[in-house]
Amino acid sequence: MAIPADLLNKMTLEEKIGQLTMASANQAVTGPVAPSDFSNSVREGRVGSLLNLWGREETQRAQRLAVEGSRLGIPLFVGADVIHGFETIHPIPLAEAAAFEPALWEETARDATAESAAAGVHLTFSPMIDIARDPRWGRIAEGAGEDPVVGSAFAAAKVRGFQGKGLAGMGTTAKHFVVYGAAAAGREYAETDVSQRTVAEIYLPPFRAAVEAGTTAIMPAFSTLAGIPMTAHRQLLVGVLREQWGFDGVVISDYNAITELMKHGVAADLADAAMLALRAGVDIDMMGFAYERGLPEALKRGTVTMAEIDAAVMRVLVLKDRLGLFDDPYRNGWTPLPSLAERRATARKAGARSLVLAQNRGDLLPLSPGIKRLAVIGPLADARAEMIGSWSAAGKGDDAVSPLTGLRAALPGVEITHVEGTGIASGEADFATAVAAARAADCVILCVGEAALMSGEAASRTSLDLPGRQGELVEAVSATGKPIIALLFCGRPVTIPSLVEKADALLICWFPGSEAGHAIADVLTGKVNPGGHLPVTWPRDLGQVPITYDARPTGRPKNPAEKYTSKYIDSPNSPQFAFGHGLSYSSFSVSDPRIDAGRTITVEADVTNESDREGTTTLFLFSHDPVASVSRPLLELKQFSSITLGPREKRTVRFELQRSDFAFPDEAMQMAVEPGEIEIHVGLSAARAQLRSGTFKLV
Ligand code: BGC
Repeated sequence: MAIPADLLNKMTLEEKIGQLTMASANQAVTGPVAPSDFSNSVREGRVGSLLNLWGREETQRAQRLAVEGSRLGIPLFVGADVIHGFETIHPIPLAEAAAFEPALWEETARDATAESAAAGVHLTFSPMIDIARDPRWGRIAEGAGEDPVVGSAFAAAKVRGFQGKGLAGMGTTAKHFVVYGAAAAGREYAETDVSQRTVAEIYLPPFRAAVEAGTTAIMPAFSTLAGIPMTAHRQLLVGVLREQWGFDGVVISDYNAITELMKHGVAADLADAAMLALRAGVDIDMMGFAYERGLPEALKRGTVTMAEIDAAVMRVLVLKDRLGLFDDPYRNGWTPLPSLAERRATARKAGARSLVLAQNRGDLLPLSPGIKRLAVIGPLADARAEMIGSWSAAGKGDDAVSPLTGLRAALPGVEITHVEGTGIASGEADFATAVAAARAADCVILCVGEAALMSGEAASRTSLDLPGRQGELVEAVSATGKPIIALLFCGRPVTIPSLVEKADALLICWFPGSEAGHAIADVLTGKVNPGGHLPVTWPRDLGQVPITYDARPTGRPKNPAEKYTSKYIDSPNSPQFAFGHGLSYSSFSVSDPRIDAGRTITVEADVTNESDREGTTTLFLFSHDPVASVSRPLLELKQFSSITLGPREKRTVRFELQRSDFAFPDEAMQMAVEPGEIEIHVGLSAARAQLRSGTFKLV
């Protein structure tokens, strides 16, 4: 079955606007649809989709109201924020990005879809693909980091994983279009104002990749860009997204964002707000009810036309049709659900793949079998709910494995003492007990970092330091002289110069998900060889922010001997850890690149595992255009490849690039390829010293 013939003609204006209205099923709302009576609104055809509803029975009950209770029987669709898992929670997206493995990104999205589909969810408000370059902004946790090439690969993999072939899975909503991540001073919902070039080169590419991968929906950002709220940004939403890229899916507003156009100071009333959003191509009003209350008046004023309303309604009906809802409105659990054990195994694998070994002095890790007494210290040591991070959908903290539990299970013969020492952010502390435990142990595992909800939406910070008294805990434990393995939990880069100095080994764990403790134990014991790399440049100090690997050259590059050069007087320019940094228990070497510049430009490099242990690493391919009409970044990531090599194995990694990969917006903002010499750099991170380089002539 398809959309019933003539359906649009049968619809009243109220029913049409109903299709453009999405209501929350569980939030207290002030407006015509109160939580207790969303059922009436569904029956009256005043709501076409719901969010925040899941569960087989609950979703079917709501669907029955629409299909059997409403005049035209148009099915509802149900949307939810399935960001990194549904019931089984995977690592937060920033963590998963660290695996640099699109196949894994796809696999976890498939499991999340299977669980969501069983609970009656038809569409997710993800992937979140905002490039984030300011760790003060808490939502950096929800995306793939600072780089547009990584962001694009992540976007495409997630759309493929969630949606499945032929939309056999659930619909996706790539968000938040666009530049939300550049919120001024990292403050949530603040304005953004970046150059057109930066919008084109940095922020738009992941959205284009999502559109090319077939995302069913796009969500505009809450923010303004150079004064224009994205919810009303006709030039980008219509001009670029629909006209240039050919996106014919649905645009779903963010929560209450159309009504907020009044607060932004661009709409005088709801009719105005509704007009601005509809004319910018926003099809669905998520909460706020600006369309319900404002569109009839806008129509009367003649600021919108019935044809514009009809076009939006048709896009919503087509989405419902593509989701199979006209065929089977009670479509529940349509994707095969792997067993719980299989889903937990995937989460464990993803958790371990996301960990970044930032430091490992004296090869303290993997834990030596000689270690008999461990002190596991810190406020995150036995935390469970914190392990699943923000946006954890139906995930339960109680189902998560704490680091302590994971270690106890993996090391039955080791005597493990556990001391909190201090809270995550509290002023209370008992350093004496922590110090005593450290003294009595062979080695300390120090579990420090942020609480899960210190990142995510509405969680901006002005300090990136370890919260509370954790810095003092690090000092106190380190004074014992015992070897320290630090496990850092965080939804963003945290500034930790003192921890880097004091800890022998540092494992950046982010928020690893439901299987956190097991995944961490797998890496600490060496069962899994760590292979994560940082998807963000890690600052030493907040004062360096924004710091990214792809800075443009300056006329006065840093020279410590000369005052008038680009530097700080109180800090190195270099980050704590470079973009792409990540160690392994194996050591790898990379050959010089071999470049063959034909119609396709191929770059080959050999990566050799110099150790006797199988290991995984990522080879990055950067380029630099040394002379162009517009100053080009010193390094630009073009491609990356994650590889697993057996002991002493050497493998050739081959990258294929097209001429168009070297295009950039010229002075007139037209995409152009400028012939000339191009530098190619390959290596295991963006740290300059270890890159191997070559050049070729671009014709
Ligand atoms: C967030 C969106 C999310 C929506 C629905 C908003 O506050 O910005 O990312 O999809 O809520 O939960």
